[in-house]
Amino acid sequence: MLDKTTVSLTAISVAIVTTGIATWALLKWQETSKKLRKYVEKYSRMEVVQQYLVHHFAKLEDLPHLKSLIPRTAENYHEELVKFVINTCDEHKIKKGRILDVGCGPGGISFHLSSAFQEVVGTDVSMPMIMAGQQMKQFAEFGSPFSSEGGKYIKLYRLRVPDSADREKVEFWNEDVCALLYTCGKFECVLVSNALTDLNDPKAFLENIGQYVKVGGLLIIADVYHWPSGPEECLGGEGLVSSFSLLKEILSAFWDFQKETNLSYYLAKCARLAEVGNAHVTVWKRKEELLEEDP
Ligand SMILES: C[S@@+](CC[C@H](N)C(=O)[O-])C[C@H]1O[C@@H](n2cnc3c(N)ncnc32)[C@H](O)[C@@H]1O
Repeated sequence: MLDKTTVSLTAISVAIVTTGIATWALLKWQETSKKLRKYVEKYSRMEVVQQYLVHHFAKLEDLPHLKSLIPRTAENYHEELVKFVINTCDEHKIKKGRILDVGCGPGGISFHLSSAFQEVVGTDVSMPMIMAGQQMKQFAEFGSPFSSEGGKYIKLYRLRVPDSADREKVEFWNEDVCALLYTCGKFECVLVSNALTDLNDPKAFLENIGQYVKVGGLLIIADVYHWPSGPEECLGGEGLVSSFSLLKEILSAFWDFQKETNLSYYLAKCARLAEVGNAHVTVWKRKEELLEEDP
């Protein structure tokens, strides 16, 4: 029989340990959400959401001061990327079932994908981006304000979901893709367009995304690798390393590299200024031998 003192001491010890764990969890949660807030805020400002709405759904004809400057190859980036994804799935005989569009913004790529895939999930950590996508899903066409000079002088731009899209197949999730839950289910394909360098924990994303892709499924990453603090800082490399070599190293546990190409794009910052980029597009196939059972 335990005496009263022993019981009391045990109860006190349990209470101290439990409180300690709860405090540690709370501090950890606060630290994570503070860190995440920095990433969420960047893409939640109204002018950035409007910029991305124009980027995804307006036509270059509506930007006459930029039209002659933008190379033809950069005019239809989202459409060209989706054509590449569809052709690559066909080459690998992958069913065009479920696809995840990581960091989807207002959903331009998701809508293009819906012409070929049965189910498209666009996920973004920014709620205003997801709300904009949801609005495009509901109304398909509307005018959005875009600041012509980065200030209060605005013009309305006509936004339109591509005619080929099947809006009902597109679903938007407001999720941090670096911390997905198993309830997300599995996808035939995951596409990450110009979002990898924006993730709060890109290494964790690359290490974990294999859990959400079916046997033989594909991961397609398109990026210009403009890291906030270099690939070595963000992906954990040492010495002189390129982003592609780090991707190969991290992904090699679960993925086989298949092929690469380049796709150019433009992003209008205002009526007379645009960013032009040349995204490196890489295709990775999930290894079968390491996999646990898939549904
Ligand atoms: C540069 S935009 C790219 C939008 C679109 N994919 C494209 O190619 O035009 C990057 C997007 O990634 C989103 N993002 C950043 N961190 C994320 C995270 N942890 N989970 C999901 N989305 C994230 C941002 O909110 C932003 O909308």
